[in-house]
Amino acid sequence: MEKSKFQAVHSRLLQWYDTYQRQLPWRALPGKQPNPYYVLLSEVMLQQTTVVTVIDYFNRFIARWPTLQDLAQADQEELYHQWQGLGYYSRARNLHACIAMIAQQHGGAIPQAPNELIRLPGIGSYTAASIAAIAYDCPLIPVDGNITRVIARLLAMKTPLPDLKNSIFNLVTPLKPTRAGDFAQGLMDLGATVCKPKNPLCGECPLASHCQSHKTNQQHLIPFSKPKPFKPTRYAYAFWCQDEEGFVSLKRRPETGVLANMVGLPTSEWVDDPSSLPSVEPEWIKIPKTIKHTFTHFHLIIESFITKDVNQSNVFKVKPQNFEDYPIPTLMKKVIKTCLNLGN
Ligand code: ADE
Repeated sequence: MEKSKFQAVHSRLLQWYDTYQRQLPWRALPGKQPNPYYVLLSEVMLQQTTVVTVIDYFNRFIARWPTLQDLAQADQEELYHQWQGLGYYSRARNLHACIAMIAQQHGGAIPQAPNELIRLPGIGSYTAASIAAIAYDCPLIPVDGNITRVIARLLAMKTPLPDLKNSIFNLVTPLKPTRAGDFAQGLMDLGATVCKPKNPLCGECPLASHCQSHKTNQQHLIPFSKPKPFKPTRYAYAFWCQDEEGFVSLKRRPETGVLANMVGLPTSEWVDDPSSLPSVEPEWIKIPKTIKHTFTHFHLIIESFITKDVNQSNVFKVKPQNFEDYPIPTLMKKVIKTCLNLGN
């Protein structure tokens, strides 16, 4: 981007941000320094979830663990529990490891340089850049989905996603914005509230007079996307096994892979071909409702059965009223609900 165009966009966007920025609990009041712990925590939560969802989780985390030292000493199980619903539990584990590393190796101070931030567990290049810009005004532009869309429209870029992100990364790398945190968050807010994916509100946009795709009325077409790759379907059985005292068999998932470390009903192997599921025993009672769940790389279809025993290792017994004490992922909650309702 030419320097003069960037300067004009930068100053207009900051003017807009000073008036229209969203009030978010991790943001500092105007003129105040943000709390780097709030910034790191919010950026990790925002990696996979929307701002609206993250607000409540963020407030709960801060109420429970007000400082980085508090979170460093948090009980892992409780942290997982508080994370429930934010998805990808490996991120909760990485967050804990990241915070512990900052407490132990950085004297509790979150590093400022992106190349140090990136060495922390769970911090990729985008999150490192956003923490450095937002917490410390390090002069760079983190490239997230909103920022990608705003810049791609501004310059009417035709490169399809996901390559577009790299093109934009290369394009913004030489730019060194002042008030970098406000500039980044201004672009994010503009993307979320004005330069929206569908029906962008160009009439309200402070950058409309600089926007190449607005000029040529292509804003609704940009960014282009490559066709989505095919997602395979996998199949599994889940087993509801409750003893006479009301205890139900639960099982913790392996430490790596999908839903790592989470707890749920025991399941069969998750297989690509439904004919390789185990044979249904005559005494099993089938729950009439099938559960479908979509992960990043595949769909999963689960049939549930009431059984008398589960011949699996590492199973433990819990009463349904105590399920809340365990990190049970959304998929398993759906399965458990159908079992508790017998599919109704
Ligand atoms: N998305 C990721 N980080 C954000 C932030 N700091 N403000 C708004 N949206 C965001």
